[in-house]
Amino acid sequence: MAANYRILEAFNRTRYQLTGHGKRNVQVLKEAFELLEGSLDSDIYGNGNIIEDFQNRLAEILGKESAVFFPSGTMAQQIALRIWSDRKVLHKVAYHPLSHLEIHEKDGLKELHHIQPILIADKDRPVVLDDVLNLKEDISCLLLELPQREIGGQLPAYEDLEAISAYCRGKGIKLHLDGARLLEVCPYYEKSPAEICRLFDSVYISFYKGIGAIAGAILAGETSFTEESKVWKRRHGGDLISLYPYIVSADYYMDLRLPRMKQYYEDAKELAQLYNQCEAVTTRPPVPVSNMFHVHVRLPRDKMEAILVGIYEATDIGFTSHLRVVDEESCYFEVSIGDQYGCIPSDQIAHAFQQLRKEIAACQ
Ligand SMILES: Cc1ncc(COP(=O)(O)O)c(C=O)c1O
Repeated sequence: MAANYRILEAFNRTRYQLTGHGKRNVQVLKEAFELLEGSLDSDIYGNGNIIEDFQNRLAEILGKESAVFFPSGTMAQQIALRIWSDRKVLHKVAYHPLSHLEIHEKDGLKELHHIQPILIADKDRPVVLDDVLNLKEDISCLLLELPQREIGGQLPAYEDLEAISAYCRGKGIKLHLDGARLLEVCPYYEKSPAEICRLFDSVYISFYKGIGAIAGAILAGETSFTEESKVWKRRHGGDLISLYPYIVSADYYMDLRLPRMKQYYEDAKELAQLYNQCEAVTTRPPVPVSNMFHVHVRLPRDKMEAILVGIYEATDIGFTSHLRVVDEESCYFEVSIGDQYGCIPSDQIAHAFQQLRKEIAACQ
């Protein structure tokens, strides 16, 4: 069977899964709408209580003057960088080499906005103050992604963030937060979202990661900035006549899961420890700083797939649905903790890890 289908199918057949909130099926939307009155008015092209109330709620949570709902983070962030670049009449921004904009957006920033990214920091660690101090070129905006997803969700120290923010303010460089998973890192920093956002001029957060809604994003900042972003949203075709299916689900799952972020973080630390007890397995970071981490295994992908599929069938516990190749000798996968982990009896988790340790040790 083609790479990853076998493991995906086996994962989907398991009774319990260590990651996520459950299947992304229509039930996710049905649940969000269950208690709503059918007479509730839709939003229309960005206006109406349903969108405005939600935007105000998010502006408050993020401690910003104003917030705008977008269908995607990709659209919201390119627009944020465009606004800051236009204002400084300098179409250069800086971000991490593994930023979402650099590797997942088909060069939208360059092709649509003619903005040149300067890549800072080594690929395998987050941006730190020295990277910013050592920048050789002038930039309009620095984008920081918290946590840095492609390296297991690592974070800079909070003091480093404060120092970067102060430096950028002093130099007239705008600081933008790719906070796709911002709510997920607040328990580690022991800060509220507003405390962290205070360090940034503009902020984007996502609703379909730790929150687990359908899709959608918020872009927040000063009102002059968010008003300008609405114009760009219209230009991009992002001003859908009705965005309420996304907003209702974002609102519903925020209520449900924002209070659970600390639990997901604690669960992630517990699960990472179990992985790190297996020979030839290490997590990145070694101790998670959010609900996510990566698991690196010193075994070829196909070998690891065979081991996992066997364990899924024997224990009814799914570890991951997807394995990625690092090289011929090793592979890795991403873990993102949600509601499912807490529903699994702990003796069954212990048993599944016992099997995993045994199977991997036999290959060494
Ligand atoms: C760190 C980060 N930034 C931005 C995005 C873009 O979000 P969207 O899928 O809503 O465009 C993602 C999506 O995975 C992401 O992980």
